[in-house]
Amino acid sequence: MLICVPEVLSKADAADFRRIMDGCAWEDGRSTAGAQSTLVKRNEQLPPDSEVARKLGGRIISALTANPRFLSAAIPLRIFPPLFNRYTAAEGHRFGIHVDNAVRGDHLTGLRIRTDLSVTLFLAEPEEYDGGELVIEDSYGSHEIKLPAGDLVLYPASSLHLVSPVTRGTRVASFFWLQSMIRDAHARSLIFDLDSAIQTLAERLGRDDPETVKLTGIYHNLIRCWAEV
Ligand code: NI
Repeated sequence: MLICVPEVLSKADAADFRRIMDGCAWEDGRSTAGAQSTLVKRNEQLPPDSEVARKLGGRIISALTANPRFLSAAIPLRIFPPLFNRYTAAEGHRFGIHVDNAVRGDHLTGLRIRTDLSVTLFLAEPEEYDGGELVIEDSYGSHEIKLPAGDLVLYPASSLHLVSPVTRGTRVASFFWLQSMIRDAHARSLIFDLDSAIQTLAERLGRDDPETVKLTGIYHNLIRCWAEV
């Protein structure tokens, strides 16, 4: 399931990120790639351990933990420190088809996660560049994602995906992974749909409506059944 979350960062915050990142030294993106993806990865990254990447990443984590739609869709247990990448048309940047590593470790913090979900948070507006779509394959076909600055997409880390060549301008984004409390993607999707329906009912009938309360109980009891914490 692909889930877009709008306005995780405000336009002002996204612009501030860009200003800060413009003044940084970037390195070859292959520094964090696995054995297969290093063959097809052509982009630049902020050094993952740099102070600026950690600071900006912390701001993203703060925004995520205050975002109800993100929390409902991901039910995150652990979030990997966000990384930042840049694809420039003049350099012919792209990222060919690959699958993300199943486990990621962060040697600075010792954090180790199973990558259930991959996240791309767009930091450039779609009008700033041509190409650069995130293309995700699932059993329903290929999906092209290109979102406004400040919006993110959550997608299964198990899926094959690519970033198409950037042919004009520069695509800037943050990307990272998370381990969900709900390991099974189907169960996680049911939980998200149930929560969405409960929120709509609560608006229509009130949070104290007896059936809404009962459904809210079922929601939490399903999480009790499935959560690994
Ligand atoms: Ni990837």
